[in-house]
Amino acid sequence: MAKITLLFLTVVLIYFILTLLSTESAPEDALVSQIPGFTDNFPSKHFSGYVTIDENHGKKLYYYFVLSEGNPTKDPVVLWLNGGPGCSSFDGFVYEHGPFNFEMGETKGSLPKLHLNPYSWSKVSNIIYLDSPAGVGFSYSGNKSDYITGDLKTASDSHTFLLKWFELYPEFLSNPFFICGESYAGVYVPTLAYEVMKGINAGEKPVLNFKGYIVGNGVTDEEFDGNALVPFAYGMGLISQDLFEEVTSECQGNYYNPATDNCENKLAKVDKTIESLNIYNILEPCYHGTEILEMTTGNTKLPLSFRKLGETERPLPVRKRMFGRAWPLRAPVRDGIVPTWPQLLQSNNVPCTDDEVATSWLNNEAVRKAIHAEQGSVAGSWELCTGRILFRHDAGSMIKYHKNLTSKGYRALIFSGDHDMCVPYTGSEAWTRSVGYKIVDEWRPWTSNGQVAGFLQEYENNLTFLTIKGSGHTVPEYKPREALDFYSRWLMGKTI
Ligand SMILES: *[C@@H]1O[C@H](CO)[C@@H](O)[C@H](O)[C@H]1NC(C)=O
Ligand SMILES: *[C@@H]1O[C@H](CO)[C@@H](O)[C@H](O)[C@H]1NC(C)=O
Ligand SMILES: *[C@@H]1O[C@H](CO)[C@@H](O)[C@H](O)[C@H]1NC(C)=O
Repeated sequence: MAKITLLFLTVVLIYFILTLLSTESAPEDALVSQIPGFTDNFPSKHFSGYVTIDENHGKKLYYYFVLSEGNPTKDPVVLWLNGGPGCSSFDGFVYEHGPFNFEMGETKGSLPKLHLNPYSWSKVSNIIYLDSPAGVGFSYSGNKSDYITGDLKTASDSHTFLLKWFELYPEFLSNPFFICGESYAGVYVPTLAYEVMKGINAGEKPVLNFKGYIVGNGVTDEEFDGNALVPFAYGMGLISQDLFEEVTSECQGNYYNPATDNCENKLAKVDKTIESLNIYNILEPCYHGTEILEMTTGNTKLPLSFRKLGETERPLPVRKRMFGRAWPLRAPVRDGIVPTWPQLLQSNNVPCTDDEVATSWLNNEAVRKAIHAEQGSVAGSWELCTGRILFRHDAGSMIKYHKNLTSKGYRALIFSGDHDMCVPYTGSEAWTRSVGYKIVDEWRPWTSNGQVAGFLQEYENNLTFLTIKGSGHTVPEYKPREALDFYSRWLMGKTI
């Protein structure tokens, strides 16, 4: 009898140990089981919630985690960051490469209908959409002094987030891990990657299986980005040969920091010539605040044939908006305070941008409850880009970070929608070239669906520069199929 009891107790004990071990997985209360506006089954599991990165201040970063629809246990984990500074990563989720396409509600203010996005990046990867820094999107702090921040603090906070996040989801620690973002995330990505690399080298736990990073139309360097516009405008046929020759000879190639009045005057003439274009995609019309309706019904200065050039196969017509947030023409990001769009314009609208679908959806209390975002009274109302933070660019040029990371074996993909005038490809092409690495795959077209989709040049140390033909600032928004193609090939280490 005693023996049987002992055996029984042992079995019970083993059972308890096993349950303890198996609870080391995704937190059950983070599971998103339904979402208002979507009636089908989810194609993969979704989790969302907050990670507290500073207990004393109550500083909490919000994430939305979409598991891969392929093989979640093996596919890479990718952290996605939108830029700004001040823009929520729900921009990527709603308008770029998230699991759903959003169909505008029938009446103003009504909830959108959600459909599955055939080009979701969750087809091939597990993606964490992170709202960062605190104050942006659904992320917030109990101490408002945290809303005064900058590049370095943001990177170290996001690193803290990652360590804590992987403690919550340890089953993903062995998946290859990548960091990815666009626009001002051209600063977030390399600075965070650098923190992660330092953490790994210092033996910090948990150990992240970090492999590399991706930057799209990313802010990088004051000089390269600032000098990019004039050659871009000329190459795209936006300014005349005469003006190009005049501005070149007056400025001697230095456009980012004009040395003479004559140079300044010629630059002003360049600006005047191109100022009515949509800065985020020169082929698209511009949707200004109150003019949204007229614009969407085709009232635009551009001839229709010109607009058609920018069209691509899009799952739903609702993606009419232009994303944004960088800064006005010829105002490269410099050291010091980087104004957010609301601060620049003293308005909550981002130029040429219609963010109605995201704004109405993410401010609906039932939606917020379903995706575990705090209600408005706690986390504030959701804005595409907020003016709630005061942000300092304090990390300088990103080129030194790229050199450090690529020379340590981390892979880097620098992509660029080649019709973006906000962070023009001419700057990204020039700085990647300036690193001085040997070319291992010389400038050549790459294809998607049997067509040339852009060009690429690969350098040693796994540094790749890639353009997406005809795309604006937010590539997966304008060219979803092409974007999924290069993204999945690069993640798998295949030739693009
Ligand atoms: C907020 O944080 C700052 C810096 O840590 C601290 O000096 C201040 O007392 C805090 N404020 C509140 C209301 O807790
Ligand atoms: C990168 O590497 C260089 C040389 O090893 C070092 O001086 C520098 O501090 C490193 N970090 C950054 C962010 O550049
Ligand atoms: C480039 O990346 C591959 C993995 O895709 C790796 O095997 C190789 O060592 C890397 N090359 C360098 C020079 O870091």
